[in-house]
Amino acid sequence: MNIQTLRRMPTDSRVCANPAESFTLPARFYTDPAIYEAEKPAIFYKSWWCAGHKSQLPKPGSYLTTQIHEQGIVVTRDQEGVLRAFYNVCQHRGHELAKGCGESRTLTCPYHAWTYNLDGTLRTARLTRNMPDFDACDFALKPVLVEEFCGFIFVNLDREARPFKEQTGDLENEIRKYAPPIDEMKFVHRDHYDIKANWKVVIDNFLECYHCHPAHRDFVDLVDMDSYRNIINGLYISQISEAPKTTTARAYTFEKGEVDFGYAGWFLWPNLTLWVYPGEANISALMMIPAGPDRTLETLDWFVPSGTVSQQIKDAMAYMNQTLQPEDISLCESVQKGLKSMGYNQGRFVIDSTHPELSEHGVHHFQKMVADALGADLG
Ligand code: FES
Ligand SMILES: [Fe+2]
Repeated sequence: MNIQTLRRMPTDSRVCANPAESFTLPARFYTDPAIYEAEKPAIFYKSWWCAGHKSQLPKPGSYLTTQIHEQGIVVTRDQEGVLRAFYNVCQHRGHELAKGCGESRTLTCPYHAWTYNLDGTLRTARLTRNMPDFDACDFALKPVLVEEFCGFIFVNLDREARPFKEQTGDLENEIRKYAPPIDEMKFVHRDHYDIKANWKVVIDNFLECYHCHPAHRDFVDLVDMDSYRNIINGLYISQISEAPKTTTARAYTFEKGEVDFGYAGWFLWPNLTLWVYPGEANISALMMIPAGPDRTLETLDWFVPSGTVSQQIKDAMAYMNQTLQPEDISLCESVQKGLKSMGYNQGRFVIDSTHPELSEHGVHHFQKMVADALGADLG
């Protein structure tokens, strides 16, 4: 990649491996369209991307679609129940094959009606029978890697990528510890957000609780802040805190005894966060979908084991949707404006060993991963 702005500029301070010495990523990494474009092959076309949840593909014939920048993907459960994923493009003249999600025995292109089996093979192509050199085997859908992990379905456009499970070490054990009914979880609700900020601003914000006391009055009452920790584990970062001191937090209340831990959250490189809130069993997935150098679309999906939403889970959803998310979105949009200011380029990560709960080392880890993935030379 030969992009001038990936090199250290005269106005830049050093970005280095030690979080206590490093400056933050220069502001242009959040605003420059060339860097935004460079991220596509360097990060998104070679990382695992969450396409959905197994409860959205319940039986043979189910399919769903997802979009990784310009690359549309369709995930199917074929007639044998095997998960498959393909580029969502017809092999005739390139029309999009499937939209949204649903159930069907085949995938039929809306343009000239070429029809594919759910294992990707071309089943019928109108009027090709009399073409002597036409071989349907040449026109199967192009596959991509797909893997189920704790019920979530991940795809990867890099055919050489190591399995998600192998790349994420102990993550499965951690999720099973904090969300024991993970295998029974069912999708119940989605919220959407449209944020005027670069996707990395939104991830940066997730990766520290230095801002929690000033900006999230109700969150610091819901979780036990003294025990709150950001733990770096390579491709994922865990956020764990012990049982809250109260079950009648300002955010929402829950019955005593429902929880023996506080809050758990995970960041999964590059753009997914999972959350387990205090109270009844739940897990939610907040995904940051880049939609331009200064725009991010977020989806927030909720899962509960019964598939029915109790009042307590409704209260947790309402807190997230009406309080926590608006608070974070407002912070991120203000930061994006600041990153365009001629009066700002880089700051420092705040690392205080006497207050690990407030440390910004997780943000540093993420920003260093971005810089390394891009091959940026900022040292
Ligand atoms: S482009 Fe799909 S059938 Fe022609
Ligand atoms: Fe926040």
